[in-house]
Amino acid sequence: MKIQRICSVYWSATGNSRKVARTVSGAIGEYLGCPVEEFDFTLPGARETVMEFSSKDLAVVVLPTYAGKLPNKMLPFVQTGIKGNGTPAIPLVTFGNRSFDNSLAELVDSLKSNHFFPMAAGAVVCRHAFTDLLAAGKPTEQDLEDLKQFARKAAEKILEASSLPAPVTVPGDSSAPYYIPKGLDGQPAKFLKARPKTNLDSCIRCGVCARLCPMEAISSEDYSQVPGTCIKCQRCVRSCSQKAKYFDDPAFLSHVAMLEANFQDLKVSSFYL
Ligand SMILES: Cc1cc2nc3c(=O)[nH]c(=O)nc-3n(C[C@H](O)[C@H](O)[C@H](O)COP(=O)(O)O)c2cc1C
Repeated sequence: MKIQRICSVYWSATGNSRKVARTVSGAIGEYLGCPVEEFDFTLPGARETVMEFSSKDLAVVVLPTYAGKLPNKMLPFVQTGIKGNGTPAIPLVTFGNRSFDNSLAELVDSLKSNHFFPMAAGAVVCRHAFTDLLAAGKPTEQDLEDLKQFARKAAEKILEASSLPAPVTVPGDSSAPYYIPKGLDGQPAKFLKARPKTNLDSCIRCGVCARLCPMEAISSEDYSQVPGTCIKCQRCVRSCSQKAKYFDDPAFLSHVAMLEANFQDLKVSSFYL
């Protein structure tokens, strides 16, 4: 198969999925001698137009796992805003060392419905957005080398194929329900309404939190107000240079404590070719 362009398509609130997308796309671009183009749909403006790809493109599509599936507020765009035309694709999810459950299956199925051909896939362990104690420091330099090796194998598969290869098989069930977060007491932790708080003594009113929010949930007049829908992605918390943003919702904190108590043993990334 002749590929002319590598398309790095990603949604990434705290940077892990972006790093994975760039690493895999860059390695394939180098191997196949093709230019790489980025399609970052993290911010709402980028989700206003459909991203369409051709049979001469190879799309590397990366999203994080949220509650065992794809982030539910991003699913409509994945289903209607990313269109293939017999386009080979490499779907990848990142996850924070609990489990990727059904997110990769959901991504593979969505891409198939949108006229992509997923021919290699993977689920990559990365630091959990909620806490640095889960998969700390990941992806490491060694993880990025492993990703490049996977990318080269996927590129070889494309080079060798005379026509579109059979779609890759991945574990999971895209119609399964979302994972229900638990608290330290083992009961469901209900933190849907939790919002980031702002320490007004350290906030310097730079507005980075409002500009970078993937949901445009933070008021641009008063950065301490969150009138929109917060998806708990932690982008405002992790991008604040003053560490002024934080969550203090008891159910949210209890879930984080439960994760820290039960999911510190390092998981491995999975690759499917
Ligand atoms: C709202 C939310 C839900 C999450 N749910 C899961 C999960 O079910 N399983 C898991 O292992 N990690 C989970 N994570 C961790 C993320 O999948 C992980 O940190 C991911 O790499 C973040 O990607 P990003 O840096 O590209 O935003 C969750 C993170 C957030 C913010």
